[in-house]
Amino acid sequence: MATLKTSVLGIDFENPFLLASAPPTASVESIDKAFEMGWGGAVLKTITPDDLEMLEASPRYATIKEKGKVICLQNIELLSHETIKYWIDGIRYLKEKHPSKVIIASIMAPVERKEWQNLVKIFNDTPIDAYELNFSCPHGMPERNIGMAIGTSAEISILITSWVKSVATKPVFVKLTPNVTNITWIANAVERAGADGFAAINTVQSFMGINLDTLEPVLNIDGLSTYGGLSGEAVKPIGFKCVAQLRQNSNLPILGIGGISNWQDAAQYIAIGADAVQICTEVMINGYGIINGLKSGLLNYLETKGFNDISELKNIAVKKITSHEKLNKESHLYPSIDKEKCIKCGKCAKICSESEYHALNIEKECLNLNREQCAGCSLCSHVCPKEAIKMCC
Ligand SMILES: Cc1cc2nc3c(=O)[nH]c(=O)nc-3n(C[C@H](O)[C@H](O)[C@H](O)COP(=O)(O)O)c2cc1C
Repeated sequence: MATLKTSVLGIDFENPFLLASAPPTASVESIDKAFEMGWGGAVLKTITPDDLEMLEASPRYATIKEKGKVICLQNIELLSHETIKYWIDGIRYLKEKHPSKVIIASIMAPVERKEWQNLVKIFNDTPIDAYELNFSCPHGMPERNIGMAIGTSAEISILITSWVKSVATKPVFVKLTPNVTNITWIANAVERAGADGFAAINTVQSFMGINLDTLEPVLNIDGLSTYGGLSGEAVKPIGFKCVAQLRQNSNLPILGIGGISNWQDAAQYIAIGADAVQICTEVMINGYGIINGLKSGLLNYLETKGFNDISELKNIAVKKITSHEKLNKESHLYPSIDKEKCIKCGKCAKICSESEYHALNIEKECLNLNREQCAGCSLCSHVCPKEAIKMCC
């Protein structure tokens, strides 16, 4: 029998699914409910010193939908609106009621030793399991030299990580931003400064566009807008890339985040190196109840594969990611057309000829492949509206 139980830095997880720091972890009441429903843990909405002002804009969300389904969410929300006292009491309440759940305090403060260390000293005396340093919020905070302004500077990231590590009595994860040229540069820096693990990714900085009727921003706050943070399914490939790069570069534990909407996404994060995962947008869209499918799906997958737990799945696929130089350039696949499915719309032939090659053409209602001309690029299989093309040897 496989199990979803796992252990990271000596912290026992009843399952690897955590709520990411975000609206679903903004109140003790809702975290309590999520724990009842089976989540393995929660990263609290980022806590800051009480005197750091959090004035929110309205509205603060915009989405891109495909067939009614939200594929990405942009937000310009700030951090927790609750006081430190609220969270101290809340953590104690939650841990007493749910001793087996993992509680991670996400924290952020101005770049001053006293401010960061004060926060840490306060939460050292609560039953949290770990810290997550938010070096990665891309909106609002960087204007005040914090959030992503920290996580895009190796120098400042090192400084704060070492301040925190010198007083923290619990493990310290650093939550990294994908909004850098190479996430491993900052990861290496904080690892050298003593970080115990990474959480990645935070949201991807973005701009949602312009309403062409009004010529005002789509995310419109009284006629103006700002750059926000993108999350949800659309950012998953960026999350995958960052987690794989982190794993190829370090043995520290990784909490994988970004675009997870089902157990398959979570399993992939684990296969490329994550030790556990965090989810935000999918919960904001579909509620805490998604935990049932996540747990049963992942458990069933482990059993089908003959794995006892996620440690046997972890890292397996990361070895398959290499440099372009090392890819086999001798291998060449060709499109194979399923005649039953093909409606001879000609889209594949048109795209093939207009995107460099001239390998496909329709003659006398028949789709033909010129193997000499075919580059094996696979674009035809992706544009086919009937999924009638597969790439084969
Ligand atoms: C509305 C909203 C608020 C968020 N607030 C925080 C926050 O306070 N602290 C933090 O570290 N990350 C915050 N995040 C980022 C998420 O924790 C997560 O890293 C990101 O959304 C990617 O995961 P997802 O694709 O599952 O949403 C927020 C995300 C959203 C959408």
